[in-house]
Amino acid sequence: MGYQAQFKVWRGDAEGGDFVDYAVDVEEGEVVLDIMHRIQATQAGDMAVRWNCKAGKCGSCSAEVNGRPRLMCMTRMSTFEENEEISVAPIRTFPVIRDLVTDVDFNYAKAREVPAFAPPEGLAPGEYRMAQADVERSQEFRKCIECYLCQNVCHVVRDHEENKQEFSGPRYLMRIAELDMHPLDVRNRKEDAQEEHGLGYCNITKCCTEVCPEHIKITDNALIPMKERVVDRKYDPLVWLGKKIFKR
Ligand code: SF4
Ligand code: F3S
Ligand code: FES
Repeated sequence: MGYQAQFKVWRGDAEGGDFVDYAVDVEEGEVVLDIMHRIQATQAGDMAVRWNCKAGKCGSCSAEVNGRPRLMCMTRMSTFEENEEISVAPIRTFPVIRDLVTDVDFNYAKAREVPAFAPPEGLAPGEYRMAQADVERSQEFRKCIECYLCQNVCHVVRDHEENKQEFSGPRYLMRIAELDMHPLDVRNRKEDAQEEHGLGYCNITKCCTEVCPEHIKITDNALIPMKERVVDRKYDPLVWLGKKIFKR
């Protein structure tokens, strides 16, 4: 059965903006993105909303619904009370372009900074056969749809713009962990993570894991193991001895 819901949608641009009230019809089975489309179709044809698949797979429709970072296409209207006022705002950590659309270029820049997969030199095609055991741990990370909700919610950059230079965020630290777990990758990913991508800034608050729509255990399965390996290496007596000898 349909009903009318009260929405507050943030409208504005880089110069500033505010929430605007909309009373909108809701039909059974709809999601928040449907409601944004209805507002566009009936009340605000110029409202900017980014979306693509409407199936939780393209990662485009990230927004803050009632203050919580979520995919609008995967947020069912049935999870709210019919008389509840629902707010929709752009994700907070990235600069607003217009209305619900933000500039997520930060993430592309950080992605480019992660050095590509580095197999041993001279390894011929077919010389190594990957087994399921080789990808068991990192396979989970490949489910990422790059919605940037984890990047948006991590307090290291959400509350501290000044950390954006040094910290690449959970999504890209997870990418480094994935490469580090690859049996053929020969690059020193531990050093990359710690020295170039700010792994030390992460204090394992797990907010990234909580918001991930793909339910990837970013903190437990990527960030903590990476931190453990960085520590292992740093305090590994053989590494320490090697450094001493070669420094002579
Ligand atoms: Fe989104 Fe999860 Fe990928 Fe982060 S790890 S970008 S929350 S899918
Ligand atoms: Fe941030 Fe996730 Fe670490 S939210 S602090 S990257 S555990
Ligand atoms: Fe593709 Fe929501 S529209 S994830």
